[in-house]
Amino acid sequence: MARTLSKVKQPLRYEQSPIEIDYTLKGLVRMNLNENLVLPKRILEDAYFASESKFDPRNYPSELDCGEMKSLREELARYCQCKSWKNILLGSGGDQLIDLLCQMKLRIQGGTLVTVRPSFSMYYVNAIKAGGNVIEVQLGKSSCEGSPFKLDVPNLVRACKSSANVKILALVSPNNPTGIQYDIEHMKEILDAVPPSVLVVLDEAYVEYASYSAKQLLNAHPNLVILRTFSKAFGLASQRIGYLATLNEEFAKEFDSFQAPFPLNSLAVFMALELLKKREDILGYARQTSRLRDNLIEDLMRLDHRLLRVIPKSETNFVLVGSKKAKTIFTSLLSRYRIAVKYMPKLEQDSDFLRITVGTEEQNLHLRDALYAIAKEV
Ligand SMILES: Cc1ncc(COP(=O)(O)O)c(C=O)c1O
Repeated sequence: MARTLSKVKQPLRYEQSPIEIDYTLKGLVRMNLNENLVLPKRILEDAYFASESKFDPRNYPSELDCGEMKSLREELARYCQCKSWKNILLGSGGDQLIDLLCQMKLRIQGGTLVTVRPSFSMYYVNAIKAGGNVIEVQLGKSSCEGSPFKLDVPNLVRACKSSANVKILALVSPNNPTGIQYDIEHMKEILDAVPPSVLVVLDEAYVEYASYSAKQLLNAHPNLVILRTFSKAFGLASQRIGYLATLNEEFAKEFDSFQAPFPLNSLAVFMALELLKKREDILGYARQTSRLRDNLIEDLMRLDHRLLRVIPKSETNFVLVGSKKAKTIFTSLLSRYRIAVKYMPKLEQDSDFLRITVGTEEQNLHLRDALYAIAKEV
């Protein structure tokens, strides 16, 4: 099933919390934003202290093709196994890149963005903001045990071919909020079938927690760009670094003409360079997060199934659970246990969900105990 949403009449759709989260609350456990709760803060502090003296804060950062920006592009090309630093494009977080891509492809040409539902809402929000249309293809029932979110490849391809106005196909894999990474064979099938005029944006924000990267597909598909961020496995959400990997020179030129001259700040970039030196340790913490996530899923599955329906698989740093009492659980967790989770109403037709960021072992136990206590009362 696909539905089309068009232009200005549609309200922008940021998910709202049923009650406001007070981020100044002492002892608040932030399990609602998929930040990195597992990477020790010490690693980021070390990166900060190694970076603070490397630039003069009175100066603008380097331009994107020299100095620290070029160094970051070179290191990221190595990290992504791309041939050249020119294959990496930088932005101020994944969010700014999504905004820019929508402005580039939808605003001037009045285009359509195709995506799936449920998925990361910034694609929808930025497409509408750019004056474009959105076609959302519903994720369907899955053969994967317990997961209700299967990619509907034929409908997705049909939507991409439905008009010459389709300019972007945005796929998030592993997907937020479902946690599921699409099969590489499905990705190939989609890329083979979609018209080459459609820019396929594959968002791999959570790839470090997943089993594969689709970067191997870049060679065969010049219309593919991969979007990534430093906000998740690298734990640098405060510094706003996102990047694109592409082999398409024409696209890179167009991107350069849209991007601001100084979209990233020097401190952020020097910190990212320090973190890339420690990538082995950081990827070790991402693997640890995946183990903690699987333990958390197992623990939550022991709860009353009538209260919580745990999606049994995730390849991200979060876990998704469905519940008819999602709103009550959200409110109790926040007001009584100081645990913020993400309330996601109506992800399925008749079911509300909670998305819970994986924390340290201690934080996960705190959450589990709180949920066990709440389960006895509701
Ligand atoms: C799928 C996905 N893409 C992109 C982003 C944006 O990341 P940032 O703007 O922090 O780089 C997020 C953030 O949660 C995300 O979940």
